[in-house]
Amino acid sequence: GAPVEADISKLETGQMIRVQWRGKPVWVLKRSEEMMAALPTLNPRLRDPESLEPQQPEYAQNEWRSIKPKILVAVGICTHLGCSPSFVPEATPQPYDPEWKGGFFCPCHGSRFDLAGRVFKGVPAPLNLEVPPYKYISNTLILVG
Ligand code: FES
Repeated sequence: GAPVEADISKLETGQMIRVQWRGKPVWVLKRSEEMMAALPTLNPRLRDPESLEPQQPEYAQNEWRSIKPKILVAVGICTHLGCSPSFVPEATPQPYDPEWKGGFFCPCHGSRFDLAGRVFKGVPAPLNLEVPPYKYISNTLILVG
């Protein structure tokens, strides 16, 4: 599959766009200050908070999991059985997780990921969401693949 471009010049804070890469949805999310501040507070609840599992590129091996801290680039496919999780940006209580601070929720079997795509403990998904290979061509253009 050929690499694909994601133009983030019009991406607003809190907004997520989707591109297709090798038939997979790739998400590009611009996280707010509040979203970034919540990430380290979640570490104790996560299976692999620093993304040390070997499926991750080097630039995903930290708690924000991206080249530029605020811009998350992740494959939007649940690491359990391949459904596509929903983007739930609200940091408000949810029936499935009263301490929800926003993230991704997989409707198939209830796996939850935070806004860095890091998987919570106690859900079926075994791994954090995949971070694809990508690079910045310019400040506002990402090449995925
Ligand atoms: Fe996502 Fe099973 S496919 S929880």
